[in-house]
Amino acid sequence: MEIKKVGVLGCGLMGSGIAQVCATAGFDATVLEVEQKYLDKGFAGIEKSLAKFAERTPEKGGITAAQKREILARLKGTTNKADLADCDIVIEAIIENVEEKKKMYAALDGIVKKDAIFASNTSSISVTELLTATKRPERFIGLHFFNPVPLMKLVEVVKTIATAPAVYEAAYEFAKRLGKVPVRTSDKTGFIVNRLLVPYLLDAIRAYEEGVGSIEDIDNAMKLGCGYPMGPFTLLDFVGLDTAYYITHVMYDEFKERRFASPPLLKRMVMAGWYGRKSGRGFYDYSDPEKPVAGMF
Ligand code: CAA
Repeated sequence: MEIKKVGVLGCGLMGSGIAQVCATAGFDATVLEVEQKYLDKGFAGIEKSLAKFAERTPEKGGITAAQKREILARLKGTTNKADLADCDIVIEAIIENVEEKKKMYAALDGIVKKDAIFASNTSSISVTELLTATKRPERFIGLHFFNPVPLMKLVEVVKTIATAPAVYEAAYEFAKRLGKVPVRTSDKTGFIVNRLLVPYLLDAIRAYEEGVGSIEDIDNAMKLGCGYPMGPFTLLDFVGLDTAYYITHVMYDEFKERRFASPPLLKRMVMAGWYGRKSGRGFYDYSDPEKPVAGMF
């Protein structure tokens, strides 16, 4: 079960990052999008990220200009599903919508070679539900990467009750070959990271709603008191409040526990279109992205 060619579905933040790390690790990677403009945007992000790596020393994970060119040469963008036919693994990172994902898998099931592995980067949707769209349940797994993909070392490798052990091990080894640290987990909503991270982030919002501290002070407290790289509100804005809100819904629906329920403020911010960094406003105002200003609600 040798993996040589990788297909990536979606060239957004996660898809482009996944394609980048695959190409950096020496794999040929073809990214599928619905329109060329999304490929252009994603590839511009890859160029930018590789340029940052090219500025670093090799000891700090840097690459040379020649390596950058080789990595880019291994990457291909397409809007034609047939270009994924000979992939050994296909990693889906499209919109977090069950129906859209199932439609995509069903379409690709008849195109991509039968022994290829299908993987989903979903953070909250049941991998088991997704595999029902294909005729290859035993060759279906979750591979959950973290944002920003080129920097974050973790990949959650998600096993379903239908996954063949050999497929799971091949995916685990593949994650290692990407230079990541894989962890083993099973198809329980939220896997390991979101199971623990989501209640923490939601609690930060509740603490703010209850007047425990300001947004900046809560962020600083967790950053400086616990050594986290970002405080909870900075991280929420970074992940995207719409994404965080969606995840809380799926998790609350699964567990029916208050710790996964969205606080009223999060819901209102999403209703208002305040999605965090990507929309220019969330818990912070990013009018000047270099100097975000904490809000008061
Ligand atoms: N590609 C390449 N290099 C990048 C980069 C990218 N996309 N983004 C930043 N860098 C580089 C910077 O240029 C900088 O390089 P130098 O040290 O050479 O100057 C270095 O990385 C550090 O960046 P910054 O100084 O800008 O900021 P930082 O030190 O805070 O690091 C961070 C940035 C790695 C994102 C760090 O803040 C961090 O780890 N944050 C937490 C992220 C996190 O928790 N992610 C998980 C979110 S949850 C999720 O993804 C899953 C889900 O299901 C929702």
